[in-house]
Amino acid sequence: MLIAVASPKGGVGKTTCAAHLAYGIAAAGYRTIAVDFDPQNSLRLHFGIPLGEASGLARGGPPAGAWLPRVLSGGGVGVLPYGAADGAQRRELDQALQTPGFLASGLRGLAEEPNTVLVVDLPPGPSPALDAVSVLADLRLTLLLADSASVSLLPGLHDGFYPPGVAPGSLHRLVLNQVDIRRRLNREITEFLQAQYRDSLLATLHRDEAVPEAAARQISVLEHAESSRAARDLGMLCRRTLALLNGGESARYSPLWGHNG
Ligand SMILES: Nc1ncnc2c1ncn2[C@@H]1O[C@H](COP(=O)(O)OP(=O)(O)OP(=O)(O)O)[C@@H](O)[C@H]1O
Ligand SMILES: [Mg+2]
Repeated sequence: MLIAVASPKGGVGKTTCAAHLAYGIAAAGYRTIAVDFDPQNSLRLHFGIPLGEASGLARGGPPAGAWLPRVLSGGGVGVLPYGAADGAQRRELDQALQTPGFLASGLRGLAEEPNTVLVVDLPPGPSPALDAVSVLADLRLTLLLADSASVSLLPGLHDGFYPPGVAPGSLHRLVLNQVDIRRRLNREITEFLQAQYRDSLLATLHRDEAVPEAAARQISVLEHAESSRAARDLGMLCRRTLALLNGGESARYSPLWGHNG
């Protein structure tokens, strides 16, 4: 299974959610690999991988063969970082992502073992990685905030942000993050989105200092503060994501494999 975490907006919690989905899905018994397509190369930091570790997908040019040798291990999860890459290496990876078959065969190689879930973190906004990953994902999660800028971006999600050619069986859900109901505008926008997008809103996550604190310690929120609001919210996101992917709706078709899964 392939889960893509994306947003037209930056700083909304994509990397945080991708990391905690990987943690939660691994804890549920799946072989899980978190894959970073963002040159910021920050997904790895959620798994305790040292700051100085340079290896990754883009480092030294995109893999010519299997991607598995570039996967590191962090907190019980496989992690394929973006890697510390210069401009030329970034452009090389972007070009490879636009080459038919490159991404699909790389990801299939990672997911050959049964019971594997790939969680992919994407850079903010449109990118070659977004276009390539979107058409292969079983589930696309779009992270947004309860602010007016996020509301303004919603109508363009399926007509401009995600590329044409997304498989009909691919699911899409919204995740609203950093909600603070003590702030009136934030609460009103949250209520509006919960009513307006009831069917596509998978989870509402509250703003909680435990999130940046856990990130600073390079561990999961669950390990950092087990009884925090954020640990509960992110746990709920994982359960709902797994329920969705294991439910009848998505078992029909897996774009990465090109057949009924
Ligand atoms: N629910 C939350 N409560 C408090 N802080 C949060 C929450 N979610 C994310 N953050 C913080 O917001 C910042 C941005 O989060 P994150 O890096 O996950 O966003 P992003 O969408 O991946 O950003 P970018 O667009 O730069 O890739 C981080 O400092 C993170 O710790
Ligand atoms: Mg990010």
